[in-house]
Amino acid sequence: MSEKQKIRWGIIGLGQIARSFAEDLKLVPEAELTAVASTSASRASDFAREFECEKSYSSYSELFQDLDVDVVYVATIHTTHFELSIEAIVNGKHVLCEKPLAVNKEQATKMVQTAREHQVFFMEALWTRFNPSILKIKELIEQGSIGKIRYINADFTFYALGNDPNSRLLNVDLAGGSLLDVGVYPIFLAYLLLGIPDEVLAKSQFLETGAEIQTSMIFQYEGAQAILYSGMASHTDFKAKICGEEGEIYIDPMWFQTPGFKLVQEGETQSHDLPTIGQGYAHEIMEVHECLNTNKIESSKWSHQNSIELMGIVDDIRRKSGIKFPFDS
Ligand SMILES: NC(=O)c1ccc[n+]([C@@H]2O[C@H](COP(=O)([O-])OP(=O)(O)OC[C@H]3O[C@@H](n4cnc5c(N)ncnc54)[C@H](OP(=O)(O)O)[C@@H]3O)[C@@H](O)[C@H]2O)c1
Repeated sequence: MSEKQKIRWGIIGLGQIARSFAEDLKLVPEAELTAVASTSASRASDFAREFECEKSYSSYSELFQDLDVDVVYVATIHTTHFELSIEAIVNGKHVLCEKPLAVNKEQATKMVQTAREHQVFFMEALWTRFNPSILKIKELIEQGSIGKIRYINADFTFYALGNDPNSRLLNVDLAGGSLLDVGVYPIFLAYLLLGIPDEVLAKSQFLETGAEIQTSMIFQYEGAQAILYSGMASHTDFKAKICGEEGEIYIDPMWFQTPGFKLVQEGETQSHDLPTIGQGYAHEIMEVHECLNTNKIESSKWSHQNSIELMGIVDDIRRKSGIKFPFDS
């Protein structure tokens, strides 16, 4: 592929995920990291040097105005996704925005409307959707490999209570707490396979600051239940299971990025191993490229509607479990 056909990426917010993403960007031949932007000029120039990127900016707006950038990856904290994605979009940029897409469904809906008005590609970086194992599991389930799903169990938890209470993970002003940070993964799995639940039950526990640190959820569907958990107060084994009337799928740890899973049918176990590229972000990057190359403004695998509906489920859980942020209206 010639240089001309390269897709030119800009990254804003040069924290932990920006770094992992930039590593995987190097593994996708059509991708070029053209510009990076940070609130810190030195962080931007250091990052640019490390990842052999031509341009670095000390403001996000400068990157949005750079005509050499095709697509912006928004890698900033949750509470900034709405405003920054919209600013990128109105500047004519395609956007891949980190999860959670926004802090509520209302914001997510406005972001999608803006992207559609400006006819630019827009997607939530829900990378697990593009993991080869997850793609295969969805296909097997649609083919009826495990029959009607009756039960899903998934969680995502890690220990974060030692973090600075003002950090993005624990600060309620920054939408801190487990639900928006990692709860979206088990919610995603249930939503992907069973859709929007008929009823959601949820209970959370909080720090004195109001930060939510663990949430247990039951999603009720016609003839099926999903039992999900999101936390920041312990570790877990990161296994997930999907149980149907005619078989089960056990997803290996860490289920949201794993290459492996086991399909059990009539007592026989079949192991699947579908390696991921890099840390797993290359697959969402390739999806963005595929959409841009075919002039699509949304992915059919993780559509605008999917992101909006996922945010709607998160809103519902927050209402049920009393998770509030100071900026909620
Ligand atoms: N897909 C995944 O696997 C994955 C993994 C981790 C996180 N995430 C998501 O990615 C986003 C960023 O997470 P992270 O772990 O990379 O966070 P992080 O290490 O704290 O970095 C976030 C960056 O956001 C920017 N920022 C803008 N306004 C800020 C503010 N008021 N306070 C702090 N930082 C601010 C900063 O960038 P500059 O100062 O450089 O501009 C900072 O470096 C979150 O929404 C998270 O949910 C996704």
